[in-house]
Amino acid sequence: MKYKLESASLSQCQSDLVCVFVYSNESIADVLKDVDPAFGRKLKPFVDMVSTHATEDGFKGKTNQVLVLPTFGNLTARRICFLGVGEGKDFTNANARKAAATLVRRLPGESFQGEISIYFRHAETGKTAVKKAAVKRQVKTSAASKSADHGHDAEIAQAIVEGIHLASYSFKKYKSSKNGDNKKEKTVQTLGFNGLSLSAKALADVCAKGESIAESTNFARRLIAEPPCFMTPSRLADEARAVGKEFGLTVKVFDAKEIEKMSMGSFLGVARGAKEPPKFIVISYDVPKAKRKVAIVGKGITFDSGGLSLKPAQSMEHMKYDMSGAAAVIATMRVVGKFKPNFSVMAVVAATENMPGDNALHPGDVIKAMNGKTIEVNNTDAEGRLILADALTYAVKQGADELIDIATLTGAVVTALGRVAAGIMGSDQNLVNQLIESGARGGEKLWQLPLYDEYQESLKSDIADLKNAGARGEAGSASAAMFLKEFTGGKSWAHLDIAGPGWLDRDREECNKGGTGFGVRTLCRYLIG
Ligand code: BES
Ligand code: MN
Ligand code: ZN
Repeated sequence: MKYKLESASLSQCQSDLVCVFVYSNESIADVLKDVDPAFGRKLKPFVDMVSTHATEDGFKGKTNQVLVLPTFGNLTARRICFLGVGEGKDFTNANARKAAATLVRRLPGESFQGEISIYFRHAETGKTAVKKAAVKRQVKTSAASKSADHGHDAEIAQAIVEGIHLASYSFKKYKSSKNGDNKKEKTVQTLGFNGLSLSAKALADVCAKGESIAESTNFARRLIAEPPCFMTPSRLADEARAVGKEFGLTVKVFDAKEIEKMSMGSFLGVARGAKEPPKFIVISYDVPKAKRKVAIVGKGITFDSGGLSLKPAQSMEHMKYDMSGAAAVIATMRVVGKFKPNFSVMAVVAATENMPGDNALHPGDVIKAMNGKTIEVNNTDAEGRLILADALTYAVKQGADELIDIATLTGAVVTALGRVAAGIMGSDQNLVNQLIESGARGGEKLWQLPLYDEYQESLKSDIADLKNAGARGEAGSASAAMFLKEFTGGKSWAHLDIAGPGWLDRDREECNKGGTGFGVRTLCRYLIG
């Protein structure tokens, strides 16, 4: 996709579709005049028709409202689109991202292939009452620093680019073309920006970032969408190797023998029940003499049957997405490789199936983790923490001084937060805060759950150092995190439990149904800004 900074008047814009941002309860006539004075003069009859139509259609500029109309020769562009972005005073770049996604979903025709020009309007510059209220609030911030304002516009442009790419995603690999699903995808070929105070260079930079982050999220979505018979630990390792090759990163893949040599008894325990061989995958971005090394650690269960503590059919249905954490960290390395931060980053993935094969762990078995701790496996379905334990220990041994793990770890977090937000927990409040902030900028909600020492009680075993599952129905997400904490070697650590927002049953805003690739946007914002 091409991006450009534009300054043509809306009525004469040459794009296939011109798109105007509208805040809640703004009059379309005012908005149009605001963007291009021609709408108050010779185009007034057109404005009247459009306004009447908008009123009849109930268009009020609310978030996600959208109106696409033909221009019937009144404008150079063939279509005009009004995008509702909600209250001016509440406007965030998340609204811009959602609006852009809504736009893509509502593009005319089955396979729109054209050029779009966006006319963004700042909430504070208009004349309506709503906008006046917003002025007061904004004055403080813009007076504080002019560059902060620029930062804001950069975030908005990036969010729009992300929204467009994210909403354009689809996965049709297994659809026979007979069914008519082989039509050309909707694509925006060129995206023009009006109304943002950004230099062409700054715009190009943020668009490149937004595109890379969104494409990487879509990459993660594809890994998750693949059926578990295809996306095995070996294939996941192949994907990691391909990322390494494309982005100049070092990739190491350890097989079962090497995993055993490293004494990863906890990871291997989970792998025992599966025919598919496990893989331990490490992707490194190394900065010589870097002062900081961040490890991002992903749960790579390519299918979670529960093992001998077998899941009921309903809970097993979507368990191909139990490698979403792995997908997120591998995808994030694409962005790290491209934008090259000035510190080292290492992605660590323990990949295996969790199956009830004849050699599977028995509930009651005791295994020994890489850091020497013994674990009584009282529930083979609490496998995520077992594989992450060794992955975290590995990262610590490799000299990581910051650990961020991401995993579809507990059903309990879905109960607590639904599919709206991920749970975040950790030992370093500063790191947790920064990740929450990165998520907010990227349009991913993270909600912190407490790690009270008391939760440790539930993990006491009668015969080993720890057991892997606490009491059912009691702070399941926090007790899982307390288990992980035992393997973080006292390093600065945060844990993202993405079991909820990692999967959607219906399209929602910029996320298609199915695996969402949740976490990529948060991790990328945290690592490359
Ligand atoms: N992969 C599941 C968690 C999960 C549940 C992810 C629902 C997505 C949706 C994990 O391995 C698991 O089975 N956790 C158990 C832990 C329990 C046995 C302590 C759970 O949450 O029930
Ligand atoms: Mn499980
Ligand atoms: Zn699992």
